[in-house]
Amino acid sequence: MKALITGGAGFIGSHIAQRLLEAGCEVVAYDNLSSGKRDNLKGLDVELVEADIRDRSRLDVAMAGVDMVFHEAAIVSVPYSVEHPEQTHDVNIAGTLHVLQAARKAGVRRVVFACSAAVYGEEPSLPKREVMAPEPVSPYGIEKITGEYYMQVFSKLYGIEAVSLRYFNVFGPRQDPRSPYSGVISIFVERALRGERATVFGDGLQSRDFVYVGNVAEANWLAATKAGISGRVYNIGCGVRTTLNDLLAMLGRVLGHPVDATYAATRTGDIRDSVADIGRAREELGYEPRVDVEEGLARLLEFVRGR
Ligand code: UD1
Repeated sequence: MKALITGGAGFIGSHIAQRLLEAGCEVVAYDNLSSGKRDNLKGLDVELVEADIRDRSRLDVAMAGVDMVFHEAAIVSVPYSVEHPEQTHDVNIAGTLHVLQAARKAGVRRVVFACSAAVYGEEPSLPKREVMAPEPVSPYGIEKITGEYYMQVFSKLYGIEAVSLRYFNVFGPRQDPRSPYSGVISIFVERALRGERATVFGDGLQSRDFVYVGNVAEANWLAATKAGISGRVYNIGCGVRTTLNDLLAMLGRVLGHPVDATYAATRTGDIRDSVADIGRAREELGYEPRVDVEEGLARLLEFVRGR
């Protein structure tokens, strides 16, 4: 089986690549290296196509003979989308449409789309369930729900099998800590190891469902291979709600010393609370988050220290 991963040299994409190789697939990573890195694929038998998802002709060539596509390429930062909505629209919506069109033209059997918990936005009830109406509060949230709608419509109109995974807050090795737009765990870990204080935007009582990247790679494999799920949408998290203050305490335990933090203003466009109901993924995909947050943090620290 041949698989193409857009964003394949990125954080999540490279973990999916590893999982697909374990399953015996031939793997193509399609990445413009804007945030992805060659290094993320080091030691993996993966063909890297250095190109942009907005480039239809390069996509068409790369999709030849591909059976499944994992669409991970995106600008993933909520605050970046607040500041640059036209650019994120272009990559996250137009780019997704290009990927779908190229996949359809090439006769790809199934596309798995990296959607996001950001689509729930202001919907107040917890835990988040897939049947709730999306209420995005950032351009990023709009872009991800639009991508998901495209998946569903393409599955109905053209018969291409398309499945969306609403990732909650994914963390783990190879997540880039060096940008202010990076995921909070990668930033906190990097700062703690340098002996610097973490900055918490808000009171630290906002909550997220942090999920180790290995669980997410497994969910992708299940979403690509289960029969009869075209057009479906699944939450992928651990189903556990962790506040940023809890996270700091947990990180202190794993590190063996407390992590100091400074509190600053709340970030515009942020959602307050987020935790997944993963019942549907459990039932229909057989998904189980085998690595919990604390174990995931320990694995991340081991990776960062060994680097
Ligand atoms: C994250 C993902 C997004 C994904 C979504 C799903 C990243 C960069 N973003 O967005 O792609 O779709 O989860 O739920 O991985 N914070 C601090 N201090 C910092 C950095 C962040 O307090 O130094 C706070 C933020 O204000 C926010 C929380 O930590 O309240 C999480 O922020 P972040 O890691 O950027 O994730 P999301 O915005 O939830």
